Amino acid sequence: MLKKFEFEYESFNNASALAKEDFELLEAARKATTTAFAPYSNFKVGSAARLNTGEIIIGSNQESASYPVGICAERTLLNSIGSQFNHASIISLAVSYDPLGKPSNEPLSPCGMCRQSLLDYELRYKAPIKLILAGQTGKIMIIPSADYILPFGFTGSILKGLK
Ligand code: THU
Repeated sequence: MLKKFEFEYESFNNASALAKEDFELLEAARKATTTAFAPYSNFKVGSAARLNTGEIIIGSNQESASYPVGICAERTLLNSIGSQFNHASIISLAVSYDPLGKPSNEPLSPCGMCRQSLLDYELRYKAPIKLILAGQTGKIMIIPSADYILPFGFTGSILKGLK
């Protein structure tokens, strides 16, 4: 039997069409690119999350001289929330980037590792995380839940049956 997977998301041509809270979060992610440490890729990524407490927390990519040790903006942020706001949940998370002199007008698509981490945090806090993805300018994508971009993701439920 052939099955089909599809999902709906929103696309906006400019930030003025966004809800006030989403615009505010995107602006925080854009600004968070300035805190990135990216001397190896020159690709600064910023992220910002809105918690159910109303707080906005930011993250950015932090690279290492030993390249694989570096960490993306999304996981810097998620793990910081996991450590410091253990009892909160994440309502929405915005990601933007500054490729230092190159164009930043298309949404950034989170890497595979970050998609796994986003899924982990949705399950951990039992709440969907709305994703707001955009460059410093241009089109914006809003995806209602992070698990939409990791179809058939590994949730760990199968581990429970194992020794
Ligand atoms: N990067 C992120 O921070 N998030 C992503 O979703 C994709 C890539 C970072 C990792 C590395 O520091 C730089 O961007 C270039 O890959």
